[in-house]
Amino acid sequence: MTQQTTAATSPALDLDIPENLARALVTPRSYATGETTEAHRWLRANNPLGVARLEGFDPFWVVTRHEDLAAISRNNKLFLSGEKPTTLTDRATDERAREITGGSPHLVRSLVQMDAPDHPKYRALTQGWFMPQNVKKLEAAIRGIARKNVQKFLDTDGTCDFVKDVALGYPLHVIMSILGVPEQDEPRMLKLTQELFGARDPEQTRVMGEMTPQQLAMMIKMVLDDFASYFGAISEARRKEPQDDLATVIANAIVDGEPISDREAAGYYTIVATAGHDTTSTTTATAMAALADNPELLRALKADPSKIGAFIDEAIRWASPVKTFMRSASEDTELRGRKIAKGDWLMLCYESANRDEDVFEKPYEFRLDRTPNRQISFGGGGHVCLGQHLARMEMRILYEELLPYVASVRRNGEQRISESTFVCGLKTLPIVWERD
Ligand code: HEM
Repeated sequence: MTQQTTAATSPALDLDIPENLARALVTPRSYATGETTEAHRWLRANNPLGVARLEGFDPFWVVTRHEDLAAISRNNKLFLSGEKPTTLTDRATDERAREITGGSPHLVRSLVQMDAPDHPKYRALTQGWFMPQNVKKLEAAIRGIARKNVQKFLDTDGTCDFVKDVALGYPLHVIMSILGVPEQDEPRMLKLTQELFGARDPEQTRVMGEMTPQQLAMMIKMVLDDFASYFGAISEARRKEPQDDLATVIANAIVDGEPISDREAAGYYTIVATAGHDTTSTTTATAMAALADNPELLRALKADPSKIGAFIDEAIRWASPVKTFMRSASEDTELRGRKIAKGDWLMLCYESANRDEDVFEKPYEFRLDRTPNRQISFGGGGHVCLGQHLARMEMRILYEELLPYVASVRRNGEQRISESTFVCGLKTLPIVWERD
């Protein structure tokens, strides 16, 4: 089935954003080069809710302002996650995905692809695990993991790639221990996540060279099948022998009086296993990059470690590791004086909302004094990031443990950033540091 093209087919052409900017927004590499940052800046000033119209893509509204992104995220009845692809997908790949699934645009069905009535029921299954009061109970265990990673850092003895040596492994180990994945399988989980989020990054993908949409859809399907078969075995084990972990909750989940299907369970494992570390890793690394770039910041945090929470919030704003999510309108509606038609597709640009001049004073400065920090990296409304409290806590703990040992830090070569229109961030961060 072909995706219906209702998006902004009627509005006047002055709604359209310039083609070069639209092209940047759909190009994974532009998120690594900073081209999208410039596109966002122009769009916020000149056309904050315009339409991207490009060959090969269904047209979509580009949401660049904080206020609009928050309003759309809050209204889960009017702006759906499940009707159209939830992440940016070209028309050919979408068609291929629908062929594979028999009509659904989603190769995986997890919380992010669900709408009511299913979404609240499935979210409720694990919500308790991720609430602040429960996450707090994990603090001592997470501090233990943080200390081991600080030791790895200290062992680097002055020079390291902070991504490879610390930021990749730490959040991975935290979420995998919560989920119940044995430590020896963590490299496999990391690889699969990178293949999924970096499907079009030349260094992370499974397929060398340019991929056709068919190959892209097939490759993503293969990665998802690998996740499903891995977690299928875990599910079976947890049904036989329940443990105190999240896998046991998912494996034995009941919705409407019935055990959840294998497809839904696989989607659940996959979202927790993937969303739970890549985003947090790149943000952890971005926080270190900010320290390397602003010596004053390190001094301020060492003098008053109670500011580490504010530092982490600002790093989350600065990194904005989730670049985009898509929604579609369930009814005709109006936003910012523009008519959005039922079925229209919308791109939520988190990084842009996090640089919105109406909300953040000097948005291109990394600052500790944004109180409250209205960063919107975790989204909002019914789909607001389930792991936000965990993410904040684990990053705060790492820096509480790490900073007492660091007298100074600076960059030591070029950083590299992964290429994706969905989740991306630092994939290398060479630094030199001195011990306190
Ligand atoms: C959803 C960002 C860390 C689990 C989301 C969404 C965003 C996001 C933007 C979608 C919100 C929406 O559609 O409106 C981030 C960022 C993180 C982070 C920036 C780190 C800095 C984590 C962690 C977990 C996690 C550590 C741990 C399990 C999830 C899940 C969802 C989600 C399960 C789906 C929620 C739903 O659709 O109901 N996250 N995330 N995330 N995140 Fe995170």
